Amino acid sequence: MRLRLILLYSPSMRFSELLTCRYSVRAYRPDPVPEHMLEKVLLAARMAPTAANRQPFQVIIIHTADRQQHMARKHPRDWFRQAPLALCVCGLPDKAWVRRDGWNSCETDASIVMDHMILAAADLGLGTCWIANFDPVAAREVLRLPENVGPLVFTPRGFPAD
Ligand SMILES: Cc1cc2nc3c(=O)[nH]c(=O)nc-3n(C[C@H](O)[C@H](O)[C@H](O)COP(=O)(O)O)c2cc1C
Repeated sequence: MRLRLILLYSPSMRFSELLTCRYSVRAYRPDPVPEHMLEKVLLAARMAPTAANRQPFQVIIIHTADRQQHMARKHPRDWFRQAPLALCVCGLPDKAWVRRDGWNSCETDASIVMDHMILAAADLGLGTCWIANFDPVAAREVLRLPENVGPLVFTPRGFPAD
């Protein structure tokens, strides 16, 4: 609780400004993302609410520098590979909360996690772009995901070049 309060009072811009300055970045500088910025973004993922607090997700951090061919298999656009990092939010449906009628919270939980990370990145001046239009078979292969872990959404992460 204390941690949440500290974070609440230390953002670099007002939340209303943050909402208006976030946009889908489709051109990135190659400059590395400092470790402390990545940590803040991952903290935002950990603080995201999930149904019954099941946290049915994993975040995979991909360093794009030596994985250009692998990245191209997942998404054909150059700008997807320009950023030094890409993040993939994966869902774990077996771990998610399931309502009496069978509805599984996994994708909703994972979307909230991604949105938290995207807003945290915008707060730090980092660019992002939701990517749902990727090849799930290639992504599963390249990331070597087991059966029960599904790749749901990607985002490049780096300093904008547009
Ligand atoms: C669930 C979801 C999936 C998306 N998938 C893609 C995508 O595969 N490729 C892409 O370039 N943009 C993608 N976007 C970005 C949207 O096109 C973008 O958010 C929208 O056009 C609004 O623009 P803005 O983000 O700059 O405000 C996606 C956005 C969402 C929320």
